[in-house]
Amino acid sequence: MPRDIYTEFANTGLGRSLTKNLGLPQPAKLRRHRPGRALVEGPVVVLGSSEASAALAERMLGWDLDVRRHIGPKEKVAAVVACFDSVSTPAQLSAVVLELGSLLRQLMPSGRVITVFRDPAGTEDPAVRAARSAVQGLTRSTAHEMRAGGTANGIVLSDSLDASAPGAAGALRFLLSGRSAFVSGQFISVDTVNGALPNDWDLPLDGQVAVVTGAARGIGAAIARVLRRDGASVILVDIPAAGEQLAAVANEVSGTALQLDITAQDAGERILAHAAQHHGRLDIVVHNAGITRDKLLANMDEARWNSVIAVNIESQLRMNRAFLASALFNADAHGGAGMGPRIVSLASTSGIAGNRGQTNYAASKAGVMGMVAATSAQLASRHGTINAVAPGFIETEMTARMPLATREVARRLNSLNQGGLPVDVAETIAFLASPQAGGTSGLTLRVCGQNLVGA
Ligand code: NAI
Repeated sequence: MPRDIYTEFANTGLGRSLTKNLGLPQPAKLRRHRPGRALVEGPVVVLGSSEASAALAERMLGWDLDVRRHIGPKEKVAAVVACFDSVSTPAQLSAVVLELGSLLRQLMPSGRVITVFRDPAGTEDPAVRAARSAVQGLTRSTAHEMRAGGTANGIVLSDSLDASAPGAAGALRFLLSGRSAFVSGQFISVDTVNGALPNDWDLPLDGQVAVVTGAARGIGAAIARVLRRDGASVILVDIPAAGEQLAAVANEVSGTALQLDITAQDAGERILAHAAQHHGRLDIVVHNAGITRDKLLANMDEARWNSVIAVNIESQLRMNRAFLASALFNADAHGGAGMGPRIVSLASTSGIAGNRGQTNYAASKAGVMGMVAATSAQLASRHGTINAVAPGFIETEMTARMPLATREVARRLNSLNQGGLPVDVAETIAFLASPQAGGTSGLTLRVCGQNLVGA
């Protein structure tokens, strides 16, 4: 893993005063999740007098958090949950917005702002939609203004959903926690009452069986580790050439290794056969394996174009067909004890914003987002979900190979002024694979520190 020497320096006493005086970026050390660590380390202030504000305050009291409706001007605040779910005109936003603004200076390092509102697309009333859309704008701008590793994100509830639904609480808990350290300026939609809150928040995937492709190194290995930490048994897939590394990671997470090129026509069937033989079930699929073959379009050749499309999207479409046709990939097959099957796929911010030299890669990753949106109906009929995660700049072997100056610029081009870690992507994937995210499907969630490119 490449060192980020600037961030290390900026977190020393001298570095802090120097970067401040010179007006340089001030990347903070982000508060990340550790099992057993407190969810937040200070009071959580809930603003608004809506249905969601009452339901979410009650949830948080159940988690033994120090929940407040008001707080003194000198007290530190760990998080603010600003509820806008009852607004029906933009003029009604001001009371909660101004209260939120007055609390921002009291936020602790890695503080959280979480807005809660109803889906703008759920209404045809121009004033109501304007008010709901306005919350998106204010959330994104607040995220740009956060300091000291703080983030701002939103939870978008569909109109028919009761705010006490497990998915709303699940999204709230993820956004409050260190699991979402590198997620900022983003929105988690909760559309259905599906899902359930785990008995043990440190082991939300207890008893589940997951497969991770491209698990021999990088982000895939981090995903395998986090899924294991959260209680899942993991099947690790990678190409035969990476067999040694794959076996090492599989050993580390007490998982099973399957050497397989995912572009094989029968890749899905082979994963199912392995799962049946070694684990007797399959609950979670993480499509992580991916490749880049960068070239300007004017210089693009058939091999570069075809290989990226084949690995990054065609293989996933083919494997999903096999999984969805199988009784093994179905909670009901496990006596209803499961949580409904989960698929999480790796997209990229390149697929959202486009990137010079990456027409093939951006096409494949935009394809992933389209596939996820279109497959959610099929998963819904099994109480399952499918979502994508789009990482921004992540500190991996791939980004370590970038020229120093390019890498330095890319690292600072987001609201947190630093690159994310593979574990940040893995935490978001583990969240989407968990029972508490059962109300969220068809979504692409960015893990990019609010990357300014394509924002
Ligand atoms: P990586 O290149 O370090 O690891 C990818 C793994 O996939 C390797 O172990 C490779 O052997 C395996 N793989 C490649 N083709 C395969 C095939 N046909 N069958 C089976 N396994 C295969 O990549 P990294 O950085 O860990 O990325 C993982 C995913 O995250 C990819 O989908 C990538 O596009 C995506 N991503 C990464 C970002 C980053 O900053 N590193 C940013 C945005 C997205």
